[in-house]
Amino acid sequence: MKKVLVIGGAGYIGSHVVLELLDQNFEVVVLDNLSTGHKELVPKGVKLYVGDITNYDDLKEVFKTEKVDAVMDFAAKIVVPESVKEPLSYYHNNLEGVRLILEAMVEFGVKHLVFSSTAAVYGEPENGVCQEDDLKIPINPYGESKLAAENLIKWSSKAYDLDYVIFRYFNVAGADSRLRSGLISDKLTHIVPIITESMLGYRGPISVFGFDYPTPDGTCIRDYIHVTDLAIAHIEGLKYLLNGNKSAEINLGSNAGYSVLELVNEANTISKLSYTKGPRREGDPAVLIASNKRAKKLLNWEPTRNLKEIIKSDYEFRKTRKK
Ligand code: UFG
Repeated sequence: MKKVLVIGGAGYIGSHVVLELLDQNFEVVVLDNLSTGHKELVPKGVKLYVGDITNYDDLKEVFKTEKVDAVMDFAAKIVVPESVKEPLSYYHNNLEGVRLILEAMVEFGVKHLVFSSTAAVYGEPENGVCQEDDLKIPINPYGESKLAAENLIKWSSKAYDLDYVIFRYFNVAGADSRLRSGLISDKLTHIVPIITESMLGYRGPISVFGFDYPTPDGTCIRDYIHVTDLAIAHIEGLKYLLNGNKSAEINLGSNAGYSVLELVNEANTISKLSYTKGPRREGDPAVLIASNKRAKKLLNWEPTRNLKEIIKSDYEFRKTRKK
């Protein structure tokens, strides 16, 4: 049985990946500093090390104690406006943290890394559909810090004989169908949980940011993907490396997009949702969609859960966390 270290495994995406790894009979250990992660999201029986990737001693303790076959890293700071205010902490965590993870992998001879990255590395793609080899010109410190980490991983792979899969996420949402995990945060900024909180009466009508974009209904289009579909892709990525395939960078999306108004309409088929028309939010590209050709070709993966399941599962999860 292969043993996997999931860094950031107490967080939203990491915890869904842990569930999927266990379902597929991997042995799992988690390292998380619990800054945005939650102990309760780590399943019973999975060892949790509370520690920080920017502290080499914390990493060393895990790598020394657990002889892991692969590392999956989800531990990142991810809030775009915060990154503009605090670029130093974003680079410290998202770049220096990754440098130390690589250092530990080299010291302890761990050869496989599955790394979570973001569509933000592309910046503002010209036609809105991102291919993996497109130009990458990030427009904020968050995207820059993740791109710098990607590049460091690539250089390290050449120098130290490591292999990697870098996954670039688009709009991840939804919750585990058995409600074992979901997005928990006091500072929600993403549209799906804001919608479901409003549907549940935890907040008032949502504000739709901008009606004058060059899209059919004037609102922004995004590629929404269910967190469980995303988790499954990670296990495929891990197996791909364990089977000796060569390193790759892969978008995780659906090749299709929905506008904010389409989301609102879908939500209204589940429970009543009202909205107000707000101004544009700074830095939002009109359209952001992932080409998913490469994911299909290399991993034989594509998402299977639709927009309704994304909204419904988040709704059900949020209902269990009544405010
Ligand atoms: N939106 C609203 N009202 C809200 C919140 C969001 O209308 O209250 C709109 C946004 O303007 C945008 C869409 O809903 O058009 C989606 O916004 P999110 O904040 O949910 O997600 P983003 O597309 O901004 O963010 C995603 C990832 C980030 C990544 C970014 C890259 O979640 O991690 O794409 O551009 F950095």
